[in-house]
Amino acid sequence: MSGFRADVLTLYPEMFPGSLGISLAGKGLAEGLWSLSTTQIRDFATDKHRSVDDTPAGGGPGMVMRADIVAHALDSVSAADDDRPRLLMSPRGEPLTQAFVRDLALGPGVVILCGRFEGVDERVIEARGLREVSIGDYVLSGGELAAQVLLDAVVRLLPGVMGKLTSGDEESFEDGLLEYPHYTRPQVWEDRSIPEVLRSGDHARIAKWRQAQREEITEHRRPDLWARHLNSGKNLARSKASRKNATGT
Ligand code: ADE
Repeated sequence: MSGFRADVLTLYPEMFPGSLGISLAGKGLAEGLWSLSTTQIRDFATDKHRSVDDTPAGGGPGMVMRADIVAHALDSVSAADDDRPRLLMSPRGEPLTQAFVRDLALGPGVVILCGRFEGVDERVIEARGLREVSIGDYVLSGGELAAQVLLDAVVRLLPGVMGKLTSGDEESFEDGLLEYPHYTRPQVWEDRSIPEVLRSGDHARIAKWRQAQREEITEHRRPDLWARHLNSGKNLARSKASRKNATGT
């Protein structure tokens, strides 16, 4: 099989393909546009209880995944000369962004370690060059769902998976603004009408209205994105007052 190759190391391989087996990602998988293989970390345990974790050095709560066992599992799917990035899904990782997703989609694939328990022995993170990635500021019970989120975002960008629809979408996120609101028929629903401008047929006015909506929604919901957008220098962002002037709303 050619194309993007994903290897996932997990204590719960039965969680895969999960959501990646349906819809666009699942179709791409069935068509061989990408491949997914899971490895049971526990298969690399050495004791009769097949344990993969141990108590934290220095004390404290929880258990830590053992460096030696995780390394064996990693080395079984990814040799030293593997050019795929190796990721560890972890709430203390760097935040997943569309820019990183795009980079991954341009590459040969990815090797993902799904953390469980309190964490993974730091030595294997260093020794195998694992890049820690978080999907948000909340704590899941393990990295498996986070891995599926990341792979879903990557796979939809692979050639042939999604078709034309994607590009505009991606670019609009990359200019740092959220999407404008969408409407479709019926024209009136529960006494709510589609905004008049969208029925005007005036494409310039519609474009202006949508841009103003994007700015307003971003400023309100994501002050962090809004500040970055304003500082980016290449934006056409306007104050609330000038937005009003531009659209007459
Ligand atoms: N594992 C647990 N929580 C996570 C998160 N927020 N992102 C990535 N991996 C995780």
